[in-house]
Amino acid sequence: MKLNRRQFLLLTAGLATGCQTMDDGGSSATRKERKVDAGPTSEYAADGVYNNFCDQGFFVIRQGDKLVALSAICTHRKCQLSSEPDHSFYCKCHGSTFDSTGHVTEGPAKRDLPILPAASNDQGHLIVNVPVT
Ligand code: FES
Repeated sequence: MKLNRRQFLLLTAGLATGCQTMDDGGSSATRKERKVDAGPTSEYAADGVYNNFCDQGFFVIRQGDKLVALSAICTHRKCQLSSEPDHSFYCKCHGSTFDSTGHVTEGPAKRDLPILPAASNDQGHLIVNVPVT
């Protein structure tokens, strides 16, 4: 297909617009976190580790009047962690362990698990901001 100069300019202008649109979509798609509704905070009344959302990247932990969302992603190479009966966390990939507050108790991981930003919304649900990896 042979294009004249006008057709070529229109086509390239359209491509440039398309790229702009793609860039806009790309930047919004690369947001650093997503919000996950972890349900009513009343579901986490008892002290303990709740692993219902570990597939979504976090554990919910109740300790007294404190309710936190702790990352369920190993800080070594990002494998998903499992919760243990003693409320510690274990990484099956290379064996790192973390205590119930997310502190490394055995490597190779060197960094503690981060507490994720979370808050209760107007409906009393726990909304957790999960980093997008
Ligand atoms: S990814 Fe968890 S110990 Fe390596």
